[in-house]
Amino acid sequence: MSHELPFIFAANWKMNHALKDIENFVPKFKENVSEKVWENSAVILAPQSIHLMALGKLIQNSRIQLSAQNCGPQVSGAFTGEVSAAQIKEAGASWVIIGHSERRHVFKETEELLASRLKIALQEGLNVIYCVGELLEERKKGTTFEVIEKQLSNLKAAIATLGEAVSSRIVIAYEPVWAIGTGENATPDQAEEAHAYIRGWWKKNAHNAEALRILYGGSVKPENAKSLMAEMDVDGLLVGGSSLDPNAFAEIIKNGLLSAL
Ligand code: PGA
Repeated sequence: MSHELPFIFAANWKMNHALKDIENFVPKFKENVSEKVWENSAVILAPQSIHLMALGKLIQNSRIQLSAQNCGPQVSGAFTGEVSAAQIKEAGASWVIIGHSERRHVFKETEELLASRLKIALQEGLNVIYCVGELLEERKKGTTFEVIEKQLSNLKAAIATLGEAVSSRIVIAYEPVWAIGTGENATPDQAEEAHAYIRGWWKKNAHNAEALRILYGGSVKPENAKSLMAEMDVDGLLVGGSSLDPNAFAEIIKNGLLSAL
């Protein structure tokens, strides 16, 4: 990983946290995070979209950044239940997660739908955390790279349509589906192998492969953050379950930076 660029630690709260939990989270988290963290990393919180504005107020005057967990596939229109990229920006968020494995596998979102979400998000000026990752059976069959490559093709299309400049607003998260919420993280070697593959792909398909930030996600905990972040191509972490607890999330960042810096 390059030390000149910030590391990224993102909390994906999924469909969790009541407003009062968020109000408790912010001061406790800030208390536990040292100046060194702000100097070397970007910290992003992704609450439910209904909580974006409230969280935005709570993190005013801090360097915490705000992300939505998904965004609508068109600029506006008849899309019941969706939140548009412009509305996400209006709520104060500068990031959006696209292609999370729960969107891909629980809600069966197709590559085509994800391509539309991605294009709109980038077009409207959001930064994107684009998630990729294989199922256990795909790993067992030895098709991990093939699966990742297919998922990455949406990025290639978006860059071709919107221009090379958007690539600086894309972060990729490698999240093996079998590691998400299971307590079983990828080993640092497995994570590095996939991250190196992704960086190689990026080198061929977009400029400035060194600038690309690649996050690992899947059962990240305070105990494994250090060894995962020690890997060359792991530039940050996308944390689900363990990010709900402000102390655990702060500990993950602290431990991650121990090996990264
Ligand atoms: P987990 O989730 O940390 O609970 O495994 C990660 C994610 O889904 O982003």
